[in-house]
Amino acid sequence: MDLLLLEKTLLSLFIAIILAITISKLRGKKIKLPPGPIPVPIFGNWLQVGDDLNHRNLTDYARKFGEIFLLRMGQRNLVVVSSPDQAKEVLHTQGVEFGSRTRNVVFDIFTGKGQDMVFTVYGEHWRKMRRIMTVPFFTNKVVQQYRHGWEFEISQVVEDVRNNKDAATVGIVLRKRLQLMMYNNMYRIMFDRRFESEEDPLFLKLKALNGERSRLAQSFEYNYGDFIPILRPFLRGYLKICKEVKEKRIQLFKDYFLDERKKLASTTALDNNGLKCAIDHIIDAEKKGEINEDNVLYIVENINVAAIETTLWSIEWGIAELVNHPEIQQKLRHELDTMVGVNVPITEPDTYKLPYLQAVVKETLRLRMAIPLLVPHMNLHDAKLNGFDIPAESKILVNAWWLANNPENWKNPEEFRPERFLEEESKVEANGNDFRYLPFGVGRRSCPGIILALPILGITIGRLVQNFELLPPPGQGKVDMTEKGGQFSLFIRNHSTIVAKPRVF
Ligand code: HEM
Repeated sequence: MDLLLLEKTLLSLFIAIILAITISKLRGKKIKLPPGPIPVPIFGNWLQVGDDLNHRNLTDYARKFGEIFLLRMGQRNLVVVSSPDQAKEVLHTQGVEFGSRTRNVVFDIFTGKGQDMVFTVYGEHWRKMRRIMTVPFFTNKVVQQYRHGWEFEISQVVEDVRNNKDAATVGIVLRKRLQLMMYNNMYRIMFDRRFESEEDPLFLKLKALNGERSRLAQSFEYNYGDFIPILRPFLRGYLKICKEVKEKRIQLFKDYFLDERKKLASTTALDNNGLKCAIDHIIDAEKKGEINEDNVLYIVENINVAAIETTLWSIEWGIAELVNHPEIQQKLRHELDTMVGVNVPITEPDTYKLPYLQAVVKETLRLRMAIPLLVPHMNLHDAKLNGFDIPAESKILVNAWWLANNPENWKNPEEFRPERFLEEESKVEANGNDFRYLPFGVGRRSCPGIILALPILGITIGRLVQNFELLPPPGQGKVDMTEKGGQFSLFIRNHSTIVAKPRVF
């Protein structure tokens, strides 16, 4: 770093400290902020709290400061909500006030400053994008159009695993093959495309760029520059890499998928009878002038981040829990054998008549919530929450993991026990009908992908349990369930090696 930059930074730091002290003195106690640790000028609580704002650390603060608390992370206000009542207030009662998303320097790069849908503020643009995306992605018609494709994809997984000798002996990282399946499930919907194998060069490129995008956006590394704007110059290198990844990725979506589809549409009549895939509908909206080509590409970007890994993590957690709970796995297999039939492959319509399978999926989403703090919300204007003043543009985190794992609200929440959803919690659904259980959020910004995610989870887990006995690798009692992440997403630290012993019918 050059000396001039250092000099400028120190000078700005000094001025900012003086300013912060003066402002805080001037403001006095006029507003009533939520409780929280005492902040220091400039850094706020950042030096005390650190960068790792995961669901468990935030739960510890909730125990100390209550259902609403405030962390001053440098210049940013972070409000954390940790009770069903306050979650209801944020997501439902004051859903408009708290319905925006925070932005930061890194997300601004990946979303073209909110030209997408997932990370844009609540308003006209979001409404239009959500409307345009609903028909091609988020209806039961889409499920009916693509369920045969999803059933085919999992049958290919079963076949590949059966043909892999290691699977039945030393074990394999099942996730790797399931990742290809999830890409195919979503790329069929988006572009009517699939990838033949894990070695497909285009699939590899896509996977690598999506992986980089997730890593860069979810990292704690850039928090300091986000919290303390005067330190932003030090992020230059990081932001340059983000820009490169973003450019390459958008170009890949355009060259290999969007332009291909536009070309096909210009030579073939794509009608409504099954030939039209999601992107054709989105291109129609572009042709009508409702959105531009950048918006189309950001929709592709959003589906790549929101749909594929979230569902894959949940499948991975579910399988790992079943490996570590053989009695639950056996009970599920018994349900499948008796209700669907031995050696009769489960299909999407079957999933609704299999209560134990549904309970296994729900329990996985409860204990191993893929997005434990939901996607951060934001209030555009000053707001009130339970008598506290919430300054405009605060980042609002709903600790959905804690809502679903708080022993005050759940019986032995640390246990993986699907039976709870057939017994004391039999009325609780994943769609947000109970504010203690919000794996997909609820309200305006809730996950529209739930309609696809639940059947995909059911078919995938169901078929694997129908076809294999899933076990830990030889010499290992259980698979390692250590968590990683938590600030944005919660995944398993080590992808489990799993023995999949084919059942003989
Ligand atoms: C198990 C799988 C999934 C889980 C656990 C999950 C969870 C979530 C959560 C917690 C949110 C944020 C809710 C909030 O901020 O209040 C969200 C948003 C979103 N999800 Fe999902 N999701 C999954 C699968 C999918 C799929 C398959 C798709 C698309 C096909 C999808 C598309 C979206 C979109 C577009 C949003 C943003 C909604 C908005 O901002 O208006 N998700 N998801």
